Order: sequence, then C-alpha cells, then structure tokens
Amino acid sequence: MLMFYIIMLINCINADEYDCIPKGHEFKDGFESGKDKQCESLSNNYSYYFNKNFTYSGLAFNCNRTYLDGKFTMTSLYDYWSANVIEVMDNSQINLNGRFHTYKEFNIGTNSIVFWIGHVSFKHSITFETTPSLNQPQIIIWKSDYIHLYKPAGSQISKFEVNNPINNKQCFDVMSFNNNAALDFDKKSFDHYLPKDFKNGLDMLEGKAYLISNNRLMRFCPNGTDLDTSVTCTMNGNNYNLSYSGNDNQPFNYPHCPCDDNGETECILNIQQNLNTVNFNNNIIKYTTLNIDHDIILYNFISVKQINVNDDITLLIAPVSSIKEYTQKIQFNNFEITNNREKNVMTQFKYNSTTNTLEINGNNKLKHSSNPTNKPLTLIINGILTCNSFVNKSVYYFTNSSSSTPLININNNNGNNNIMIFDETVRLNGQLSNCIVLTGKSNEKFKCIQCKKGYYLNSKQECQYNSHCNKINKQSHCIECEYGYYLNSNKECQILPDNCIVRYKTYCYQCKEGFIKEKGECQKNDNKCNKSERNYCLKCSNGYK
Ligand SMILES: *[C@@H]1O[C@H](CO)[C@@H](O)[C@H](O)[C@H]1NC(C)=O
Ligand SMILES: *[C@@H]1O[C@H](CO)[C@@H](O)[C@H](O)[C@H]1NC(C)=O
Ligand SMILES: *[C@@H]1O[C@H](CO)[C@@H](O)[C@H](O)[C@H]1NC(C)=O
Ligand SMILES: *[C@@H]1O[C@H](CO)[C@@H](O)[C@H](O)[C@H]1NC(C)=O
Ligand SMILES: *[C@@H]1O[C@H](CO)[C@@H](O)[C@H](O)[C@H]1NC(C)=O
Ligand SMILES: *[C@@H]1O[C@H](CO)[C@@H](O)[C@H](O)[C@H]1NC(C)=O
Ligand SMILES: *[C@@H]1O[C@H](CO)[C@@H](O)[C@H](O)[C@H]1NC(C)=O
Ligand SMILES: *[C@@H]1O[C@H](CO)[C@@H](O)[C@H](O)[C@H]1NC(C)=O
Ligand SMILES: *[C@@H]1O[C@H](CO)[C@@H](O)[C@H](O)[C@H]1NC(C)=O
Repeated sequence: MLMFYIIMLINCINADEYDCIPKGHEFKDGFESGKDKQCESLSNNYSYYFNKNFTYSGLAFNCNRTYLDGKFTMTSLYDYWSANVIEVMDNSQINLNGRFHTYKEFNIGTNSIVFWIGHVSFKHSITFETTPSLNQPQIIIWKSDYIHLYKPAGSQISKFEVNNPINNKQCFDVMSFNNNAALDFDKKSFDHYLPKDFKNGLDMLEGKAYLISNNRLMRFCPNGTDLDTSVTCTMNGNNYNLSYSGNDNQPFNYPHCPCDDNGETECILNIQQNLNTVNFNNNIIKYTTLNIDHDIILYNFISVKQINVNDDITLLIAPVSSIKEYTQKIQFNNFEITNNREKNVMTQFKYNSTTNTLEINGNNKLKHSSNPTNKPLTLIINGILTCNSFVNKSVYYFTNSSSSTPLININNNNGNNNIMIFDETVRLNGQLSNCIVLTGKSNEKFKCIQCKKGYYLNSKQECQYNSHCNKINKQSHCIECEYGYYLNSNKECQILPDNCIVRYKTYCYQCKEGFIKEKGECQKNDNKCNKSERNYCLKCSNGYK
C-alpha cells in the first residue's frame, strides 16, 4: 500500500511537469496524463516523458516534446516517432531503435550518449548541453542506411544545424556512423545534405561541420577554429576489418572506425588493453599510426604508416608467408627502427629505458634519435641490424645473446666519439667483420680499435684476416708473426720470401746464396755485387766498390 502510494506520488509530480507518462512499455498500455489530455492521439502538442523501455509501432506520431531520461531502449519500428524537440536528459544512455525525427531540436544532456540503429532524421538543429570531447561523439549510429539531414529545397526552408555550446572554441565530434552512403539515401529528392556538401566544411550559423574518417565522422568547428584532423580509434575485437555492420561484434569502439582516411586525417589506432593478439587480415593500412601500449602479437600484419611502441613493451609481428617484402617504420621513445619484413621471419621489438636495452629481431635499420645517456645502450639483436646514426658520447653494446655481459674498462678517449662493442657472437659485415670495439665520429667512417681474438689490427685500422700473428699488443696491433712470416711496415704479417736460410721468428739472419739483406729483407743479388755470403756482399763487381 505504501509502495503504491509512493509510486502514485512520483507519477503525480512528473505528470505536473510532463503531459504524458507511459503506464507500461508499449503505446497501447496508455499514459498517466493530466485532465483532458489525449495522450494516445497520434498528433498533439504534448510533452512525453520516458524512463524505461518503450515500443511504438503505429503510424507516424507527432508531439511537441519527448524527454528521454535514464538507461533504456526506445523503439519505433514502423513509422517515425517525431517531435519538435527530443531531449536526452543528463547522464542518460539511450538506445534509439528505429525511426526518429525532430522538427526543431535534438538536445543531448551532459554526460549522455545516444546509440542509434535505424532511420535518423534531423530537420533542424542538434544541441549539446556540454561540448563533447574530440573522438568521443555522443551520437553513435551503429547501423543506418538512412540519415536525413535537411537542407533548404523548394518550399522546404528548414536546415540542419549544429549549435555551438556557449563559449566553446574547440572542435568537437557530433556524430559517428557506419555507412557514409546513408546520407545519400534517396537519389530522387534534393532536400538533404550529401557527403560532398561537407567538403571543405559545411557552413552553419556558428561554425562549420566536416565529414572525416571516410565521411563517417561529423566534426564541428566553431568560427575561428581550424579543423582538428586527428581521429583516434580503439580496437575492441581481435579482427581488423574495414567494413562491418550491425550492432554486434563491432571490432572498433565507434562506427566511424577504422579511420585510415587517405592522408587527409591523422588516424591513430589503439588496441584495447585486454587484447593480446590482433589479426590485421593482411590489410595495408597506409595512413594510420598504430600505438602499442601493452605486450601484443600482430598476425597477418602487412603494414601501417608507423608503429609507436611504449617503453618496456614487447611487440611481436608474426611472419606472413604470402607477402611481398616491405618496410615498416617503428618508433620508440629513443629510436626509429625501419623493419625490413622478410618472408617467414618473426620480428620482435622491446625497449627498456631503465636498463637502456633494446631487443630486436629480424632485419632492421636503427636510428638512435635521442640525447646521450650515461648508461651504455645494449642492443640484443637476432638477425641483421644496420645502424644509420648514433648519438655522441654514447657507448653501444651489441650482443645476440639474451644474457649480455656488462661493459668493462672501456675508455672513451676520443671526446664526443662513440664506442661500439660487439659480442663475439655478433658478426659484422664488410671490413669491420672481425672488429669488436669501434669508435666513430659523426659523419665519419667507424674506426676499429679492437679485434676479435686471433685477429689483429693493421695500420689501416682493419682487422687482418688470416693473421699469422703470434702476439698482439694492447692496441690490437701485431708485434710478432708466426714462423715463416715477418711483420711488414703496415704491421701485417707477410710470408717470408723464400730466400732466407737462417731465421728466428720474423727475423732473417742469413739470406740464401745470391741474396743479400737490405732493409731487413733478403733481396736478390744485383749485379753490383760479384760475390756475397751471409747477407753481405763480399766482393763488388767490376766498377763498384
Ligand atoms: C499545436 O499548436 C500549434 C500552435 O499552437 C497549433 O497551430 C497546432 O494546431 C497544434 N497542433 C495540434 C495537433 O494540436
Ligand atoms: C512546446 O514545448 C515548449 C517547451 O516546453 C513550449 O514552450 C511550447 O509552448 C510548446 N508548444 C506547444 C504548441 O504547445
Ligand atoms: C530493455 O530493452 C533492452 C533491449 O531491447 C533489453 O536488453 C533490456 O533487458 C530491457 N530492459 C528492461 C528493463 O526491460
Ligand atoms: C560563422 O561563419 C559563417 C560562415 O563563414 C557566417 O555565416 C556566420 O555568420 C559566422 N557566425 C558567427 C557567429 O560569427
Ligand atoms: C569483415 O566484415 C564483413 C562484414 O561484416 C564480413 O563479411 C567479413 O567476413 C569480415 N572480414 C573479416 C576478415 O573478419
Ligand atoms: C626494465 O628492466 C628492469 C630490469 O629488468 C625492470 O626492473 C623494469 O621493470 C623494466 N621496465 C621498465 C619500464 O623500466
Ligand atoms: C655530434 O658531435 C658533432 C661534433 O662535435 C656535432 O657536429 C654534432 O652535431 C653532434 N651530433 C649530435 C646528434 O649531437
Ligand atoms: C648468435 O649467437 C649464436 C651463439 O650464441 C651463434 O650461433 C649465431 O651465429 C649468432 N648469430 C649471429 C647473427 O651472429
Ligand atoms: C766476378 O769475378 C770473376 C773473377 O773472380 C770475374 O771473372 C767476373 O767477371 C766478375 N763478374 C762481374 C759481373 O764483375
């Protein structure tokens, strides 16, 4: 009894404010209404208040005002539910299912969202109580092939407008929809705006409305504010799909996603935290920057414009066997990496700024783009790494093992030079192939300062291949060659000419008959000497002495 009384009381209070309040969930259930009100009439000047699921399925209905308050579904499947004003009250979340039309104003309260499936029709304005944020439209049209935005034509003078909230100077998103062809629902009538009318912005009383993200996101910018072209989308599902429809299994957070808007829009794609894998279904995503903020594996991934990876996050790109080779730019806070994707090669990236360690798999080009750090940069590499640029005064430690050894006693004597240290397991290409410590000034060739075990530096600062050296000094230079070899002036061990008969290590004590020692080497006796013995000329030829 008490309960009934309270309900009566609430209804009475509301009934004072609103002309008609539904008794049940359907039109035929009737309305709580004040005296003499014909709430069931299909055309009237009353105000209607809804706060629970309601279904209308009759012929065209017209009223003055419709208030929607709370979290529920309002359905109008057969013909339009029309009102001069539809007002979505503050903190509401309304599903509009079917056909709805406003003659004067569609008003959305603070912190409210409208999810719409069906026919959308605005004869005049949309008003927001509070300016919506960029990338957070409050009108979300998940499925519609009919969006009627009135434009003056013939006797029809009313036109679609977006009102700018008072004092607002920012661009904001008006509505998101899945199908840009929905604006062009009827080729025979001309009283509605088409996507092309929004090209370069559709002039309105207080600003311009644009269609971006493949003409599926309406963004309004007040007069004096330039269009903000960045569009952020978030993947909610594991499958990237360019086209999808309906209200179930939406792969993205909004119907205007994915963006990838042929370069006119700055598209940013995030991936929801709870997804560990995403299948990109071999889509080539040219204009989108992908942000990676948690550990993830990308499958059937071809390329995006750029990938940004947060600190200490493992990004894995699974191999795709069918693809042509391509390059992918990947940005870390400290590096720019160009990954040259190859068939069947899994690539992996992870950077930890605390330890200043980058783990990298695959075929990559690295550009170190930040300031020098006190800590050496450890590059744990597996694959082929090409380094394009290095930062001054930095030490780089290259290894291909995940248990890297710490740096010991490496002095950077050369001021702003870099030092590169290579693990014995890392092979370098070209002249530096046997070098393990390098220095390099910007814009200069790297110089080897220490070779791998068993190799020594020659005077050209190259690690000598097939060294034949017995002893290397601290500077990696050879000081003693193997038997049968001697140290030449380039500090290379060279095979002794076959003309020495007594030698100790690199030193020839006695040359063969017919040879004499000149500058430490056995030279063929020339005709200046008639008789030689033990390196020396004993008797000169006639005319010489
Ligand atoms: C609604 O009010 C307007 C203006 O007062 C009037 O012209 C119109 O006839 C009314 N409509 C109905 C259905 O009562
Ligand atoms: C429609 O509603 C508005 C606001 O409540 C009111 O000012 C106006 O008079 C109403 N129109 C009619 C015709 O009743
Ligand atoms: C309202 O309708 C929605 C969708 O039609 C349904 O999921 C929900 O359970 C309904 N709520 C109530 C209270 O009937
Ligand atoms: C905004 O700009 C449009 C067209 O550029 C103009 O018609 C309108 O008067 C301007 N409104 C204000 C409030 O300045
Ligand atoms: C993408 O969505 C369309 C339409 O919903 C569907 O037919 C297609 O199978 C989807 N593609 C993938 C790869 O999921
Ligand atoms: C980086 O590595 C260190 C040492 O392994 C670890 O303690 C830390 O949590 C890692 N992450 C970040 C963000 O520094
Ligand atoms: C590195 O040092 C050289 C010479 O001192 C200087 O010209 C160059 O600008 C420096 N580069 C960076 C990235 O600091
Ligand atoms: C990496 O190290 C392993 C041994 O730990 C070695 O077999 C392999 O050849 C090395 N890879 C490269 C590219 O140097
Ligand atoms: C070398 O000495 C011999 C005699 O001892 C002489 O016959 C010969 O002509 C000399 N040869 C030359 C090239 O001087």
